Amino acid sequence: MKSKSELILALKRNPLPQHIAIIMDGNGRWAKSKKLPRIKGHFEGTKALKRIVQVCGDIGLNYLTIYAFSTENWKRPNNEPRAVLTLIENTLMKEIRELHENNVVIKFIGSREGISGSLAKKMDNSYEMTRNNTGLHLLVAVNYGGRLEIVEGINTLLKENVKSITLEDFSRYLYTKNAPDPDLLIRTGGEMRISNYLIWQIAYSEMYFTKTLWPDFSPEEFLQAIIDFQRRSRRFGGV
Ligand code: FPP
Repeated sequence: MKSKSELILALKRNPLPQHIAIIMDGNGRWAKSKKLPRIKGHFEGTKALKRIVQVCGDIGLNYLTIYAFSTENWKRPNNEPRAVLTLIENTLMKEIRELHENNVVIKFIGSREGISGSLAKKMDNSYEMTRNNTGLHLLVAVNYGGRLEIVEGINTLLKENVKSITLEDFSRYLYTKNAPDPDLLIRTGGEMRISNYLIWQIAYSEMYFTKTLWPDFSPEEFLQAIIDFQRRSRRFGGV
């Protein structure tokens, strides 16, 4: 594989995607392959995430949305859900200053039901702190489900007594309002499914599936995925 700087140079020749969404899968299997506890896989996953956020800054990406915890993840045994949420909270505390210094806007999307008061407060505070930054918009999906997002949007519409709505207007009732739809969806870990992620928003997204487990997903592979995306021709149903 080419070096990071060679890949960045190659990628600068064509327009960048505006918005990339990622399903960070494979932390558990990464840990298992090394005979480590699953939470250690998630911890390594936060390090991989940091490397990807840094390279997004290097290339000047506008939006990155990452799936950190789904509404279905509560079903996991052995207190894993709480352990992952605590990891998210600790990582946020550790990284928020540096994210802010790097001009990142960080916003959490998802339901707040079941989220501890202390994490909810940190989510709100980090958005308040960074909302006027002008660099990468990092959307972190926590306790997120795509169907739930749509139903919550419909319930808001019903409360507002809206009788009919356009496609564009409906997008403003989603957690991702103000963000363009993802151009590219990346899923690591070898599964080829969407898992209730951004189901409205990815209607026309290009897909990149890789067997690489999330902790091993490198900035180089990420850049290569963008270069692959730039080679595709997007027709949005036209010819
Ligand atoms: C999927 O791997 C990964 C998750 C459910 C958690 C991802 C969370 C992080 C990387 C932490 C993010 C931190 C911040 C601050 C946003 P899996 O457990 O489904 O892996 P498996 O399929 O191999 O079991």
